[in-house]
Formats: sequence, structure tokens, C-alpha cells
Amino acid sequence: MTIGIDQIGLYTPNYFVDLVKLAEARGVDPDKFTIGIGQDQQAVAPSSQDVVTMGANAAHRFMTPDIAQSIGLIVLGTETGIDASKAGSLYIQQLLNLNPTSRAIEIKEACYGATAGLMMARDFIASHPGQTALVIAADIARYGLASSGEVTQGAGAVAMLVTENPRILTIEPESSFFSEQVMDFWRPVYTDEAIALGKYSTEQYIRFFETTWAAYQEQTGRSLMDFKAMTFHLPYTKMGLKALRTALPAVDEAKQAELLAFYQDSTQLSRRVGNIYTGSLYLGLLSLLDLNQDLVAGDRIGLFSYGSGAVGEFFAGELVPGFRNQLHPKDDLAMLDQRQEVSIPEYEAIFNDKVPYAATDYHSDPNYYAGQYVLTGVTGQQRQYQINQ
Ligand code: CAA
Repeated sequence: MTIGIDQIGLYTPNYFVDLVKLAEARGVDPDKFTIGIGQDQQAVAPSSQDVVTMGANAAHRFMTPDIAQSIGLIVLGTETGIDASKAGSLYIQQLLNLNPTSRAIEIKEACYGATAGLMMARDFIASHPGQTALVIAADIARYGLASSGEVTQGAGAVAMLVTENPRILTIEPESSFFSEQVMDFWRPVYTDEAIALGKYSTEQYIRFFETTWAAYQEQTGRSLMDFKAMTFHLPYTKMGLKALRTALPAVDEAKQAELLAFYQDSTQLSRRVGNIYTGSLYLGLLSLLDLNQDLVAGDRIGLFSYGSGAVGEFFAGELVPGFRNQLHPKDDLAMLDQRQEVSIPEYEAIFNDKVPYAATDYHSDPNYYAGQYVLTGVTGQQRQYQINQ
């Protein structure tokens, strides 16, 4: 029995900011953002979108009543949780009318949380044949207006249905992981903006990639030649490239060029959405599958997951015959193309209009209600969700 990804759905908010315009507003050379960092646009999340609504909107892309009833495990991987205690997946279960005979939990370890969820889902399917697992990666990356991290913000969710005999990508059993207490990026509970030691976090990311990639090769006897493409957690698209470049000298120029071309395909959606933390690796995978026409069944794809703090994992998957039938590239691109651009002042106003860290009622702005599921506000310290028909 193989186990892996059978369905994959993307959601990103309906608003974006153009990073050339952001650079001009901040007095920065736009090439720094578009070339030096490798980002063109950035999703802007209104307060009516949180990890619950974005996660539900992403899973809604493929949900049917039959799938809803087959789900025995619902995992939300996020570092933008809406509650310190209750799992956001419980709201998602309610909004999507998912099977109550299921485990619904939330996992936190920075950008690694959804990978932990995926591995848990794989084990769950192995021990519960016939059931399926829903893994949702959802986050809003906030570093603060005019901060050095501002250009690496973003928002969105990727939902994956994990099953036996999957129709997109089998997840191979071999993987290598590495954990160490590192203060490169964190977010104390009193703030919704992350603290990042930018250069240091970049060094740790590369160190964790080199460590897990070396361990994976040792464990499996495989080399870069056994991979058609390598995908990475993408806090910004230049970041994965820095990691990939450390591995490339092991292969000849033709293979290097091929891997770099596949890498470019894996970054195209991230260039327009930004960092979605837990979902960034899977947004990269989706971008590769949606945009690359050369991949064929049997190709092996490497996945490097990194969560600051820090945990890294390298694992791989193999494409399944007919995988393209499970993808919706036109719909994914249409979602991005149809977004509304907001000016820099409007982006700043949206950024500052947020659910307060206080026991007061709050109403989100109905002018920004978009998507099937929205957060209308907070009443009596309870979040109020609405399903748009
Ligand atoms: N034209 C072209 N390139 C230019 C340029 C120009 N005019 N001006 C600058 N650049 C280049 C620089 O040479 C540099 O390139 P290299 O990295 O290849 O050397 C790049 O643009 C960025 O320039 P700086 O390093 O000067 O940028 P910065 O000091 O403003 O910081 C950052 C960049 C560290 C990514 C910052 O945005 C940040 O802290 N982001 C948040 C933290 C982060 O994303 N860390 C990544 C790893 S941690 C992780 O993975 C977890 C997570 O998701 C957060």
C-alpha cells in the first residue's frame, strides 16, 4: 500500500500589494525586492480572513460529502493560531461539515507544523486503512510595516488530503530530520508580529538543509541524480535557491541547469503570494506541479521543510500515473489573477485593522468579505464565522 497526497487545494486572500510599489514607498531599490529577495507581489489578509477561514477555503476546493465522511484525522499546522488552547481545526470541521468520528488537532512548530501533520497523517493512514486525513497548512506572516521582514510577509493556506493509493504523490517512508533549540525567529504570545534575526535565520535554514540532506543521502544511498526536482520551504524565493546551490556542485552542469529550471517553476506561486509559513513548502510543490509540463509519473521530488526554532526535515515523494488529472492549474492561476490590488496606504490600513488582543467585541470590515468562509468578528470573546453562498 502506498500513502500520500491525493488532493491539494490552495487559498490566498483576495488582495495583494505590488512589491515594486512597496519598495518605492519605502525608499528601497525595487530590484532588491524582485531580484535580491525574489518576490513580486504579496498577499494582504483582511481581518475577515484568519487561519480557520483560509484553511476552510483551501479544503473547500476539493471537499465533497464523501470525502468529508472519510476523514478520520484533521490536522491544522499553523503558527498563527487564533487560540492558545483550542485547535482551529475544530472550527474547520464545523464549517466543512467533516466527520465527527475523527481526531481534530493543531500542531505548532513554526513553518514545520504542517510537515509534522503530514507525517502524522501518513502514520494514521497506515494504521487506519480505508480512512483519510486532512492536513491544512495556514498562516499569515506579519513582520511589521517598514520592517526589514516586511517584504517577506504573505498569507494563505494549502490543504492536502492524505490517503492510501494516492493519485498525486506518494510519500516515501525514508526521511531525515534534525531539531535544535535555536533563537532565529519566534513570536511571543503578546504580539502578532514575528521577531526574526534575519541573517542568522538564513544561516540556520541552510545549515539544517545541509544536515538533513547529508543524513538522507547516507540513509538511502540516493544522490541528487535520483531526483527530478527539489522543493523548499520558501520564506522568500531566493532562500530556497541559496540552499539548493549548496547541493548542486555534486552533479554535472546539465543536471544543475535542469534542477534550477524546476526550482524556478516551484517558486512562481510564492513570488505572487509571499511567505505562508507552514504552507510555503506545499505552495512550492503545487507551483511545480501546476506549471511544469515535463514532469512524468515515477519522477521523484525532494521536499525540504524548515521551521525556525528549529526543526528541519528532508523527505521525498514519487509522482503517480494520472497525477495531472488531480490538479487545477487554471483555477489556481485564476485565483491569483482575479485578486484586487491595494495601494500602499490601503494595505497599511488593512494591516492595522486587526482582531484586538483584548476582551472587546470586534467587527471585521464587510468591504473585504471574499471567499466562501469569512470571520465577521468576535462577540463575547467567541469568534463568529460566516459561510457565504
Ligand atoms: N538589486 C539586486 N539585489 C539587491 C539589491 C539591488 N538593488 N539590494 C540588495 N540586494 C540583495 C542583497 O545582495 C541580498 O542578496 P543575498 O542574500 O543573495 O546576499 C538580498 O538582496 C537581501 O538584501 P539584504 O540581506 O540586505 O536584506 P535585508 O537585510 O533587508 O534582509 C531578510 C532580508 C533577512 C530576508 C529579511 O527580509 C528578513 O529578516 N525576513 C524574515 C526572516 C526570514 O525570512 N528568514 C529566512 C529563514 S527563516 C525561515 O525559513 C522561517 C520563516 O519562514 C520565517
